[in-house]
Formats: sequence, C-alpha cells, structure tokens
Amino acid sequence: MEWWKEGVFYQIYPRSFKDSNGDGIGDLNGISEKLDYFEYLGIDAIWICPFFKSPMVDFGYDISDYTSVDPIFGNIEDFKSLIDQAHRRNIKIIIDQVYNHTSDKHPWFVESRKSRNNPKSDWYIWRDPGPNGELPNNWVSLFSGQGEESVWTWDENRKQYYLHLFAKEQPDLNWRNEEVRKAIYDSMKFWLDMGVDGFRFDAASHFYKALDINAKKGPQIKKSLFQSSRDEYYWDPFTARPETLIEVENIIKFMNKYDNRASVGEISSDMGLCLYLLFTIQGRFNIAFNIDFLEKLSMNAKNIRSLVETLDAFFGNRAWPSYVTGNHDNRRILTRMIEGLHVNYEDKKRISKLFATLLLTLRGTPFIYYGEEIGMEDTYIPKDRVMDPWGKALWPKPGRDPARTPMQWDSSKYAGFSEVEPWLPVNDNKSFVNVKDEIKDEDSVLNFYKRLISERKNHDSLRNGTFEIIDLDDKVLAYKRNGEKPVVVIMNFSSESVMINWNGGKVILDNYAKPELPYLRSFEALLIEID
Ligand code: NOJ
Repeated sequence: MEWWKEGVFYQIYPRSFKDSNGDGIGDLNGISEKLDYFEYLGIDAIWICPFFKSPMVDFGYDISDYTSVDPIFGNIEDFKSLIDQAHRRNIKIIIDQVYNHTSDKHPWFVESRKSRNNPKSDWYIWRDPGPNGELPNNWVSLFSGQGEESVWTWDENRKQYYLHLFAKEQPDLNWRNEEVRKAIYDSMKFWLDMGVDGFRFDAASHFYKALDINAKKGPQIKKSLFQSSRDEYYWDPFTARPETLIEVENIIKFMNKYDNRASVGEISSDMGLCLYLLFTIQGRFNIAFNIDFLEKLSMNAKNIRSLVETLDAFFGNRAWPSYVTGNHDNRRILTRMIEGLHVNYEDKKRISKLFATLLLTLRGTPFIYYGEEIGMEDTYIPKDRVMDPWGKALWPKPGRDPARTPMQWDSSKYAGFSEVEPWLPVNDNKSFVNVKDEIKDEDSVLNFYKRLISERKNHDSLRNGTFEIIDLDDKVLAYKRNGEKPVVVIMNFSSESVMINWNGGKVILDNYAKPELPYLRSFEALLIEID
C-alpha cells in the first residue's frame, strides 16, 4: 500500500508551532526540534504550510519567491537539515505550493503591472474596464468581509483591472501562459530535487478561469463565500475548468518522474465530493483534502453516518478518500462540537477523543491539525491582535486566528512555544492543555491519539480494510473495518447513555477507564477487535 494511503499526516502551521530563535514566531528549526514528538505520536508525514519568501499579507499564502525560505522561518539550509533529520526517522515532508496566485510584491507581478507590453504583461489576468469604467464581471473575492468585494482591482498604471480570487495583494497567475507554466514547473522541480516527499497544492481547483470571463455575469451575488452556503453564487466559470484537470494530469506526470512522491489538492466548490473525485481519479492528485467532511461535521450520529456512508461508497475503488477534522482555515473541532452544550473538562476530553476515533478509523488518509491531539480550543483574539486579513474584514466575527494560536508545549507563560510574546495570544487553558502534562497523564487526549495511531498501525483492517456500517441506535455511529484482525468502532455522539445490542469481541480502546457494554456512556468511543 502506498505510504500516503496508510500514513497518518500532521499539519503544521509553522508560525505557531515552535519558535527556536526568540522572535515570537515559529520557524523551521523549531519543527526540527520537535521531531521526537512526531515519533512519540507515530506520525508518518508532516505537511508544512508555506514558509517561502512572502510579505505575509496572508501569512505565507502570498509568495514573492517560490524557491527561497522567508528569513522569518530560517533559511534553505535549515530546511535541508529538517528534511534530512525527518527522513532519518522515516517521517515524510510535504510542502505547500501556492500556484493560483503570487504576492503583488513578486517580481513577476511588479513587472507585469509596469506596462501592457512588457515580457510578463500576460502573466496575470488583466482586463479592460467596460465602456463606462465598469468591472469586467461581478465575481466576489473569497476574502470578502461584511460587504461584497470584487475580485478586480484597478491598476492606475496599466489602466486595467487585475483579477484576485483572494486578497488584492494576491493576484491570480495566468495559467494559460506557457512561460507561467514553465516557471511553476521549475519551482516544483527545485523542491522535488531537494527531496521533499510531495506537495499540497493550494487552491488547485481554481488554476484556470473561464476564457470568456467578461461575458459571464453569474447569478445575483449576495454574500461572500465564507459567509454563505457555497451554492448561493459559487459557480462554474470560477472553478473546475476542464483545463485545470488536464493541467493536474500534467503535474502528476511531472511528479511521477520522481519516486514515491505524493500530491494533495485543495479542491473547493459547491460540487463538494463530486469535485474531489474528479480531481483524484487515476492520473490526477493522490488525495483531495476533505474540507467538505470537516465543514459538515456535527454532534449528530445520523448526520455523520450519512456523510461517511456516502463518502465511502462514492469513492469506492475509484479514488482514495481523506479525512480531516481541523485545519488553519476553520474553527477548531472541539470548539465547534461543544457549541450549545453544557460540558465540563472531562466531557471535553472525551469529545476530543471521540472525534479522534472517527478521524483515525475511517477508510482514508487522516490529517491531524496541530494541537488537535492535545485538545486545543479556539482562542479569543481581541480586536487589536487580529492578524488574519480575512479576519480583519470580518470583524467582529472571528476570522481564522483563533485556530492558529501557539502550540501549547507546557504550562509556562508562553506555553513553551517561545521565550517572548508570541505573534498571536496563547490560550489560557495552556495550564492544563499542554504536551508536557499530557505525556505524563495516561488518560490524556494526547495519549489517546497515540494509542489510536498505534492500533491503526497494528491493524491492517483499519488502514486498508473495507468499511461497513452496523445499525445499532440513532445516537450511535458504528462500523466495521474488515480484513485481517477486523475492528468494530462504536461511538456515542450524544450526552445520554444508550443501551446497545452488542457483546463479544475484545475492547482494545475506550475513552472511559473501563467498558460497560452493552451500555455506552455519554460521548463514549470504543474500538473492539473481533475474530
Ligand atoms: C487556501 C489556504 O488554505 C488559505 O489559508 C489561503 O488563505 C488561501 N488558500 C489563499 O492562498
């Protein structure tokens, strides 16, 4: 089985993982310092969010040089050393490639905006205004706040608009230009030659835009993507162009010149799962990062059952699914799941373990977002500390900072993340939600993750076996992973006890001290090995 199918991935937001040089911002050497931790947990691959040269308007998702490390994160030697040390421990490294757009400070854009006929004039998506100065079309930026912000920004010099699906400082590249494609492939080559194990492709479903961009008007736009249900306005010319799929095939052919590299696409549209499959069938990306699953999760067994049943059947043998409970663009899973519930700290631990069980026992590659494995929660960010560009536009609604706060290594003032005040505030719960204390505590969320990962490694059925729903009770989600040493997973998503019709097998993991089958207590999660 390929490593990217059976491995457990861990997502690192490098600004917030570990600061090794005392500037309040995490860095590459900080990640190297923590390789023991990944071994302790049993992590097979880490995905590091962008650490390339960037003005940091979108904290690295606005790149101004694809092949150099931003000094804030270290230098290229630090990265080489990280790859080397990780590989010695059998840990793979995938990096984030942001090829839908660059920073407006990238020399390519600086040149492109100089005139209408310079050598890079066609490297971005430029359009003339309408006869009365109108915008080329009515598309709304994905980073709109309370209002509707256009994807078009006027450039006084060229007297034209340029397109940016995200912030105006993130102009979209013109993938239809051959030189642009060559420059992108050169950058991939640079990192593959260095030995990275693969890429996560940011905004990969957006690479190509409709050719007749000007003619398309789209339905009436009401809200920004992040505020509305996607299908309100998110429609075809914006996304999932066939040209993008063909390009993905070319990217994969290119990556296949190297051994054993993996590709993870960030695919988004109102088409949800359908698009994931389209982007991951044979010859395309290995994995579509499953944001759809993450966003649709709720504290409801029936709902989760329908999600996972559909997902598993839909992917079938056609492509390989992934599962995600958190990432740097969403609120943390625990915070979302306890909303509206009266829960104490014990319940919170149990709920974290419940969702860990789900994440690590489904048929598909699991991605753990840093901090979920210790039960981190969203952190309140006061207005004067908001850093996220989209968070600023959304204020007073929280943006993405609350789930990007420093990793909690210990209970000290800055949680062992840094010696100085970090770039985002540390969560007060660091006094009990932290790695140092949790390592010592058998019952901690951290040690539960560790045990789950180790059960996954011990049971081929959990990694590779087929998935079969078991009907027990509406409040309970139960399934069997078939194969060698089959495992049954039973989870109670309600705060009530439930009696189920089950006995037999050997309980190998429980988020309570001891099972009391046939009773399931509130938020109980069990793994049962059966013959
Ligand atoms: C998706 C990334 O996950 C997000 O953090 C970023 O802001 C946008 N793409 C733009 O690159």
